[in-house]
Parts: sequence; structure tokens; C-alpha cells
Amino acid sequence: MGRSRVGIQLMGEPQAEIDACLAELLSQGFDAHRTVPGARELARAGRQDILVFAGRYRPDDHVPARLADLVGPMRSRTILFLAGMDPRRFIAFEQAGFSFINITTDMSVKSLVGLIAQVDPHAVYLASKTAALRASVSNGIAGAVVDLFDRLRANPVAPALEEAASQRRAMTELIGKSPMSVWIDLIQNYHDGTAQHCALVSGYTLAFARALGVGERQTGRLFDAAFFHDVGKAMTPLEILDKPGALDATEWEIMKRHAAHGYDILSRDAQTGGEIARVARDHHEYLDGSGYPRGIRAGEIDDITRIITICDIFAALTEKRSYKPPKPADEAYSILQSMAGAKLDADLVREFEKVAAECDGGHRPVLSAA
Ligand SMILES: [Fe+2]
Ligand SMILES: [Fe+2]
Repeated sequence: MGRSRVGIQLMGEPQAEIDACLAELLSQGFDAHRTVPGARELARAGRQDILVFAGRYRPDDHVPARLADLVGPMRSRTILFLAGMDPRRFIAFEQAGFSFINITTDMSVKSLVGLIAQVDPHAVYLASKTAALRASVSNGIAGAVVDLFDRLRANPVAPALEEAASQRRAMTELIGKSPMSVWIDLIQNYHDGTAQHCALVSGYTLAFARALGVGERQTGRLFDAAFFHDVGKAMTPLEILDKPGALDATEWEIMKRHAAHGYDILSRDAQTGGEIARVARDHHEYLDGSGYPRGIRAGEIDDITRIITICDIFAALTEKRSYKPPKPADEAYSILQSMAGAKLDADLVREFEKVAAECDGGHRPVLSAA
């Protein structure tokens, strides 16, 4: 990545419209500014900035050559919004080196964001990330999973379904508004690895539910199962959970107990007792019987567990840890494919490709964000 800032410099009139546009861009996470179209001001704009000229077209003011002269080499990053221009004038602007010209409508933020995405998709990605980060802070996502685990460590009861419901609402909103890749970047900034993992699995599960086209109620069941799938790790010693490297055989045996611990914790509460507890127990089982803790086989592993297992493995592969870089989504998906049939449900792995494709590299703009 490397690049970190793309400013949007807004110029033009009417003032009220530009101000409204500026406010909307800021709320969508853009680094937007209002400036005046003078040579000195433009010289101060960064080379990564995007210039936006807006106004009603007037032949005397909007001479293509003069405008091109004013913005200089920035003309390839300049968006013109000239309402009321005769379409036949279009070609003169193109000849002067402008390619991002909107003449058909008054300026709307939606069409402006569409043009910004054409000039530089990275600008939309950065804005989306900024907005997601803000929403995450205000919704308390970053802290909620950590709190949940702290509470479970201190007092192993599972009271947190309400909390799960509010997390689900917050995450659904975030994932609806941002590309999955933005969301993954965001989650990877959690310092608590287990919290990061649970949030990531929950998010992948929401995206998978959407890809599978399941309804609201089913999505809720899947989310709860994902959110709680590793609560048994609240019983795993932190030295093992946070060990910066591979576990030895003894540590691994202790780690594997989290599945049974999760089942025990969740079974104490009637609300989490049935399905949610079963997924916590069975999410490391494989169709061929090679999983743990019980080594059960295909016929004994239900669909909801098969779904969570896929999301869990994909999360483990794409997670960033101090001792391992995240695997790119396409590589992680190939690993899932190599396990399809023998260990994982082949139909579901095929369906998961849509989720993996959404995560692929991080610069896909979401134009429907507005
Ligand atoms: Fe697990
Ligand atoms: Fe897990």
C-alpha cells in the first residue's frame, strides 16, 4: 500500500451546495477540503490530491485551455462538474486533457464519489476505512469482544447474548458499508489476538450468510454460533493463547481443550445451551473423522457447524499475528479448496468463494456506499 492520504479539494459554487457536499464527503470518511481555484492554492495541493471544480457552465469562465493551464499536470486528477454545459463542448475539455467530466446533472455526492473512484480507487478505499474505523469506535466493537472474554475468564457464565446481538447489528452495518478488506484491516488492529479472531470469524460468517442468501433469523443463529465458537479459550492459559510461535505437543493438547470448555460454559445457560454450545464443541471436527475433540464424522456434523468451521479456518489463515503475516485471501481460499470433500463440505467451500473474492486485496471501491 504505502500511500496514506488523498485529499479532495473542492472548488466552485453555489457555496451552499459545495458546503453540503463537503460535509457529506467528510462524513463518508474522505479527506475533503474547500479551496479557491487560484494558482497559489492549487500549487499547495498534494500531488495525490483530487481536484473538483463545480459550477454552472459559463463559456467565458470555463475555457478548457485556461482551466488546463491552471491545474497543470493535475488535470488527470481533476473532476469537472459543469451543470448546464452544452454536450458539444465536451470534446474541447477532453482535448485539453480532462477525462472526468460530469455535465448531465447537478452535482450529487453519489456521482462525485463514482468519479473519485475512477480517478483513484484508493481514495474511496481510504475513505471507507476511515468511516469504518469511526463507526467501529462509536459502536465499541473493538472493546466488546475483549470485554466479553475478560468477563468469561473472571466469571465463567455466558450472559452475553444481548451483547452478541448488538455486536451483530454493528458489524452488519460496517460490512454492509465497506469492502470486506477494509473490515479485515480494521479487525487486524486489535491487540488481543483471540478477540481479533472471534470478530473476524463473526464477520466472515455474516458475509457468508449474505452470500448463501439465508434469512434474518438464520443469519442471527449463525452469528451467535460464530461469536461464541471459541469462548472456551477463556479457560486456556494466556501463555498458551498468546505464545508468539508454534505450540509444543503438551501445549497443543491444552489448547485443544477449548472446544470442550466452550461447550461446558455455554451449556450452563439455557439460551446458549443447544446449538451454540454444540458448534463451540464441534467446530474443529472434520468430515473424515480426523478432527477433535471427539473425531466424529460427516453424518454427525450439522450444517451450521460446517459453515462456522470454514469461516474459522479462513479467519485463522488470513489473520495477522506477531509471528505470522496474514495469507492473502486467494491463497487462503486455495487451502480451503484443498480440504474440500475430505474434511470440509465441498458445496459450502464452493459457495464461500464469493466471500473470499470480496476480500481479495483491498482496493475495490464500494460505489453503493452512499
Ligand atoms: Fe477453535
Ligand atoms: Fe476459532
